[in-house]
This record gives sequence, C-alpha cells and structure tokens, in this order.
Amino acid sequence: MKDKIAILNSKKEEALKGGGEARIAKQHEKGKLTARERIHFLLDEGSFEEIGMFVTHRSTNFGLDKTKFLGDGVVTGYGKINGRLVYVFSQDFTVMGGSLAEAHAEKICKIMDLAMKNGAPVIGLNDSGGARIQEGVVSLGGYADIFYKNTQASGVVPQISAIMGPCAGGAVYSPALTDFIFMVENSSYMFVTGPNVVKTVTHEEVTSEELGGASTHSSKSGVTHFTAENEIACINNIKNLFNYIPQNCEEESPRVSYDSSNEIREKLDKVIPANPNQPYDIREVIHEVVDGNSFMEVHKDFAENIVVGFAHLGGKSIGVVANQPAFLAGVLDNNSSAKAARFVRFCDCFNIPLLVFEDVPGFLPGTDQEWNGIIKNGAKLLYAFCEATVPRITVITRKAYGGAYDVMNSKHIGADMNYAWPSAEIAVMGAKGASEIIFKREIKESDNPEAKWQEKEQEYAKLFANPYNAAARGYVDEVIEPSETRKKLIVAFEMLKNKVDSLPKKKHGNIPL
Ligand code: HXC
Repeated sequence: MKDKIAILNSKKEEALKGGGEARIAKQHEKGKLTARERIHFLLDEGSFEEIGMFVTHRSTNFGLDKTKFLGDGVVTGYGKINGRLVYVFSQDFTVMGGSLAEAHAEKICKIMDLAMKNGAPVIGLNDSGGARIQEGVVSLGGYADIFYKNTQASGVVPQISAIMGPCAGGAVYSPALTDFIFMVENSSYMFVTGPNVVKTVTHEEVTSEELGGASTHSSKSGVTHFTAENEIACINNIKNLFNYIPQNCEEESPRVSYDSSNEIREKLDKVIPANPNQPYDIREVIHEVVDGNSFMEVHKDFAENIVVGFAHLGGKSIGVVANQPAFLAGVLDNNSSAKAARFVRFCDCFNIPLLVFEDVPGFLPGTDQEWNGIIKNGAKLLYAFCEATVPRITVITRKAYGGAYDVMNSKHIGADMNYAWPSAEIAVMGAKGASEIIFKREIKESDNPEAKWQEKEQEYAKLFANPYNAAARGYVDEVIEPSETRKKLIVAFEMLKNKVDSLPKKKHGNIPL
C-alpha cells in the first residue's frame, strides 16, 4: 500500500504543477495568479475539495497525445464561502493556455450538474485562449454543452463568472449566460472577435483593452457588472456578493445583524432641493436608508441614470432600484431600462425583495432612443416588474411622471406598498409642458401669454405636483416624512415576509428582448 500511496502522491504533485514552473512564472510576471491560487483566495481556508484532478484529454491530433497535463487545464471542485457551499471551476492558463476541449468541458459540466442537484452557486474563474484548436469541433461541442447547462441552471442556482485573462470568441457566451460578470482591469478582456479580425473586417484600429477590457464592458457595453483593479480585489468582490444572495431559488438570502438604535434619519428631510429641477444624488438616500455601509452597487458605471444594487435593510437582503436625478435627471432610456430589468429579474429569481426609489421625469425622447428601441427596452423593465412576485415596495421621492410612473413599480403593476414623500409630484407630465398643451388656446388668446402660461402652470402644479391625488385613490398607501422612511420600510418588509404570489400557469413568458 505504501508504494501505491506514493504513486498517488506523486500524481497529485504533478497535477499541482499545472503547466510547469516556467509557465507559472510567466503567469506571475503578468501580474496574474494561477488557477489554484485564485481558488485559495476565494474559498474558506482548507475547504476546497477537488474533483477530477487526474482527468486528461483523449486527443491524438497534432501530437497532442504526447502533451498531457493532469486536470486538462481546469481545476474543478467545491468548497465554502463564509461557511456556505459553492462549486468552482478555475481555468489554468499555464496548461495549453487554459484552452477548452472535450475533457475540460466535461469537468465543468460535472460540477454544474452537482450544483444544480445540490442547490448551490457555481463560480467560474475564466482565463483561457478559447476553444482548443487541436481538438477542433470537439472543443466547440464542449462549449455548447456548457452553454446548455448555463441555461438550465439559470434561475435555479446563482452563477457567477470572473474574467481573469483572455476570453474570446464564442467563449464569451458562457459568462454572458450567467448572472454576474466580474472583470479585472488591464488584465482581462472579452470579445467575440479580437483586434486583428476587427481590423480586417471593419478597418478599425483598436487595442484589446479598448475593444473588450474591463472599463469598456463596465461603462460602454454593460456586459460586466463589477470591475476591480486587481485579482484579489476582484475575488473579494465576489465574496462580498455572497453576503446578499441565497444558495438557490428555493432559499432566502442569509440574514445579518444590524444596528436598530437609529431608525429615524433626519438627514433625509434635507435631501430634496427646493427647486424641483435641481439634481441630488440618490445614493445619499440609499445610504441613509439601508443598514450601515451595506449598499453594494451593481453596474455602477453603466447607464448611471438608474442605480441598482444589493443592500441589507433590518438585516435582510434587498435589491434596490433607484432613478438617479444626478445623471440625465434620472430619465429612463434604453440602457437604464435594460439594466434595471435584468437586475429586477435576478432578484425575483432568487427571492430578494425589491425596494424602488422613484424620481423620474419620464422616458428620454428623441430619434436615438426611438431607433434603438426604447419601446421594447422600456417594456423589458415593465415586464420585469409586472412578473416579479417577491415583496415589492416603492418610495416616490419626487417626480413620478408619465409612463415612467407606471413602470417604476407602481401599485397598478403589483407593488405591495407604495410610499410617497411630501415632495412627490405624480402626474402625466410636468406642469410647464402640461399647461402649455391643455391651456394652449387660453394662453394664445390672452393679452399677456407669458403671464397666463405661468398662472396656468401654477394651477396645474397645485393640482397635480403633489402626492395627494394618488393617495386619495390608494395608488399611494401612505405619504411619509423622509426621515421615517427607514423605519417604515423595515416594518413593511417584515409584514411582507410571508408573501405568497404566483404567475398564471405557463411554459414561460415572452419578455420583449
Ligand atoms: C490551444 C492554445 C490556445 C488555443 C493558447 N494556446 N490558445 N492552445 N488552443 N486556443 C496555448 C499556446 O499555444 C501556448 O502554448 C499557451 O497556450 C500560451 O499561449 P501564448 O500565445 O504563449 O500566450 P499569450 O501571448 O499570453 O497569448 C494568449 C492568447 C493567444 C491571446 C490567448 O494564445 C491566442 O490568441 N490564442 C488563440 C486564441 C483563439 O483564437 N482561440 C480560439 C477562439 S475561437 P505553450 O505550449 O507555448 O505554452 C473560440 C471558439 C469558441 O474560442 C466557440 C464557442 C462557441
């Protein structure tokens, strides 16, 4: 037995070396960690259990039978983050550039199957040259197997992707099918075709970083949800996300302790400027309402006119969706609608109650918006809220105008509690525009049209630029002082904690894509 154990240990040692010391050194020179180092930093100390350490490829193409590495370029297994089970795969760039082929894909699919059956999240740490060229179509098949599993697992268990090196070609579609993508600045990139192909086809000169680096995808395309300046920070961000999300679609997120000594937040009474056209930062409101520093913003640099993210409120996980008056006046447009819709759907998949702060002047007009599909994109957000069955609360801080009033989690589309601050203005449109339309003739025929317009504007504002018409109809449940918002919300979410709601029987809905 001793000899046999020695053989086992020498095989293990071989597997732990990955592609060998020289390639590990090269990886470190680039400022990158190895696949195993990443797992070490991600999981609770000593919790990692590896699966498939001795798997090798079966290809004989191009002399590949003479180049076998134990593990086939991906480290897979399970472990814990803050004591909770997660499944992990981590691609090893030191082994054939982390390229993916049959055996490598099978290892990933195996842990995804385990994750689905056992109800725990999957984290993929991606660092790969893409499809292993020598294995040909088998590599493409491997990718497709993973895409299929990603889709099956969607909404069953949370799926997280970190991009920690190259991610090119169709390989980008596995991360894109998962719930959240994390990228590392200056050392990771994602694109369907790289700079060389771009140059040939479109004659554009572009670097990898410009084309598909972390900052491009966090601000321009919205493909990535989180970026970090280095790999350790990226891994810490992933761990932080686990403070807010549950293990699977049947469970609740973990509860945390919180300080209940200071529920009245007087600062909130001073947030709304006297002039309704003056901006303020909705993040100030969010930070003041939620527990401590618990707000974790998602998609921070993309479509900044809407702010979304996770937080704890009274120790419970919530998803926050908030119009941002400090950016484009908080208007809804193509990108902000799609961004918020995606976030709402994640929260609804995983039983995370939704809190909406509303201050929206309407949808952004213009050819750019119309031609790029504001109708279908706005409908995404509408659809996402309409089908969400988690507890849903809205607080109208100021403007709630037009279609945007309906869309932003109004009572009519299923919100459970709707609060308004005394500063709320709930109407079809702003007083200036509205009075110009409905009093057009009176203004035109007046001796002093400007004065008449002002008079009518004030008349309209008095009637509608307040929360009381909506409250009289029950569209707003309660008009509250800003300072009591936190207290009210904690109690209301507690009241809603056993909410049961369901959608009509169907195969699946048809969200406007
Ligand atoms: C096999 C690969 C490989 C691949 C890299 N390697 N990519 N082996 N298949 N796709 C190997 C290299 O031969 C090398 O082996 C080692 O990995 C490191 O690669 P380098 O080129 O030395 O590293 P670097 O200079 O850092 O460049 C990394 C890279 C480059 C930018 C990723 O290797 C590259 O362009 N690779 C090809 C990318 C690509 O076109 N992939 C196919 C995409 S299409 P040694 O033995 O020297 O260490 C695709 C389709 C998916 O993925 C479809 C899904 C539907």
